[in-house]
Amino acid sequence: MSSSSSAIESVLVENRVFEPDARAREGARIAGMDAYQALCDEAAKDFEGFWARRAREQLQWTKPFTKTLDESNAPFYQWFADGELNASANCLDRHVGTPVENKTAIIFEADDGTVTHVTYKELLARVGQFANALKAQGIAKGDRVVIYMPMGVEGVVAMQACARIGATHSVVFGGFSAKALQERIIDAGAVAVITANFQLRGGKEMPLKAIVDDAVAMGGCDTLKTVLVYERTASAWNRVEGRDKTFAEVLAGQSSECAPVPVGAEHPLFILYTSGSTGKPKGVQHATGGYLLWARLSMQWSFDIRPEDVFWCTADIGWVTGHSYIVYGPLAAGVTQVVFEGVPTYPHAGRFWQMIERHKVSVFYTAPTAIRSLIKASDSDAKVHPKNWDLTSLRILGSVGEPINPEAWMWYYRNVGGERCPIVDTWWQTETGGHVINPLPGATPLVPGSCTLPLPGMQAAIVDETGHDMPNGSGGMLVIKRPWPSMIRTIWNDPERFKKSYFPEEMGGRIYLAGDGAVRDAKTGYFRITGRIDDVLNVSGHRLGTMEIESALVAKTDLVAEAAVVGRPDDLTGEAICAFVVLKRGRPTGEEAKAIANELRNWVAKEIGPIAKPKDIRFGDNLPKTRSGKIMRRLLRSIAKGEAITQDTSTLENPAILDQLAETN
Ligand code: PRX
Repeated sequence: MSSSSSAIESVLVENRVFEPDARAREGARIAGMDAYQALCDEAAKDFEGFWARRAREQLQWTKPFTKTLDESNAPFYQWFADGELNASANCLDRHVGTPVENKTAIIFEADDGTVTHVTYKELLARVGQFANALKAQGIAKGDRVVIYMPMGVEGVVAMQACARIGATHSVVFGGFSAKALQERIIDAGAVAVITANFQLRGGKEMPLKAIVDDAVAMGGCDTLKTVLVYERTASAWNRVEGRDKTFAEVLAGQSSECAPVPVGAEHPLFILYTSGSTGKPKGVQHATGGYLLWARLSMQWSFDIRPEDVFWCTADIGWVTGHSYIVYGPLAAGVTQVVFEGVPTYPHAGRFWQMIERHKVSVFYTAPTAIRSLIKASDSDAKVHPKNWDLTSLRILGSVGEPINPEAWMWYYRNVGGERCPIVDTWWQTETGGHVINPLPGATPLVPGSCTLPLPGMQAAIVDETGHDMPNGSGGMLVIKRPWPSMIRTIWNDPERFKKSYFPEEMGGRIYLAGDGAVRDAKTGYFRITGRIDDVLNVSGHRLGTMEIESALVAKTDLVAEAAVVGRPDDLTGEAICAFVVLKRGRPTGEEAKAIANELRNWVAKEIGPIAKPKDIRFGDNLPKTRSGKIMRRLLRSIAKGEAITQDTSTLENPAILDQLAETN
């Protein structure tokens, strides 16, 4: 394993501790550190009982489970395996006949500012009707359905409708390319794709359905029979006869009542592709029961959700944050939430603050990258500074996806939270299904830049390469020592890769290796995440594999001979992608280099998606290699950062190449 460049290097060292204020503590589910400790002790004493009690309290089971955790086939752990339930029933039907029924489930704000309210009862009817439409298309329990949708109520309905009939959804972020979509349709063996004609973001109309057509045209999508198209805009699109149907066509005449199909707790609720250390994305498979338990319970613990809250998670449903904290957690918890179609900077960079005021948002959950870009925007234009809006409805703030640097933390705390809202910095991953390490708003004293302590029941630790605990104050690898209900079950189609990636033999094969480096504070034991320890980058909170980008670059066979990709710290995006490229035709300079760099950037956008475009592309006659031909990435990382090379270069075959690569093209 190599060590990746860590995220933003912080200038501000902030050692102050921010105690939860009375407003956060009063009436909190977990009020104070004693209450937190009591839950941790309960889990330590009776691990299975702890989770079994929570699973019975939190979820409605059509068939109760009798066995909590099955470790007989570790690391393929199973939770509540003989129980049966339905995820959609646990998000919607459970509220029928309760005060939640007529409450607003979703406040949808469109890109153009149009607002629509959907109650829980209405959402249930829409999900039921859509589920019936899916059934009428021959889609059934166990089928895989790819969802390639804009942010909106329809995407949430599509996911919930799949869950209702036991179909496994695989959402592909709307910013991914045709190639990325094709790979996912093939790997998942999807029978249907649910999409929209266009998506609207920042006042622009961007095609989705046309990209589905391109993906299919690339070949290999043999399992795909149906494409359902939501007509988001009035613009024309090309229909493939026999395969494509509009939402209006398939919904016509369908009843809004559809009995939820009970599934086993281990039934795959969804597959979500994410980047790993190799070129091929991993299909992270999640199970219905354990995942849903934690989606609901972590909403309650981490955000201390209350009936009157208005929750807003700004993620996209294409990422795990959107799955757990838009589509499943908030609905299962019966909270009112905002769903936003657009971008934070349109029509102006005060949009988030304006929306918080408009919808009286009380719990706001966003990513450090968004905060940093809005700091920058309000520094240059005082009109978009949060102080221009009334943000007093806010009670709790959240952060997710990447380390939040203390500068951004302090700004968020002061200018958005008015120095009264705890910031819940949540460390977790696609694989963990939900939160793992974060403060509890009514209990944990906060330290900017630290995600503080593991949630009760989560056995997070820091170890060395052989799985032994590191003392506090010394850095190491972040692991989770015991299984937990919402954990990844396997990698779809690749159980061997699942074992190898997450449960290394050197650590005994049963400890979950997160792929992040971390250090615990010598005194408090608080965790601080130092960044990935594998070849995965985190750019604006988006996870990308260096190998994935390298594969995309070398796929441009007419131009590229070799490519190596590394990350370097970036003030705005956390990490930035830096690519070192050797061309077949020799090293370009000047205008030619600029033109080719642009061509390669656009190529990567087509192969993966615009989020994977390298910020920096440098050309060389060669790459720094050892005599055995291994690319020395640590040297490339130093060059990318603009650092002087201090490492040992004696094993390098071609040391002169370092100077050449250090020159900016
Ligand atoms: O490196 C960690 C970083 O994001 C990775 C997980 O990415 P993904 O699966 O896309 O899920 C993102 C949303 C949960 C982690 O391995 N990461 C996530 N949250 C934090 C973080 N790094 C530091 N602090 C966080 N709060």
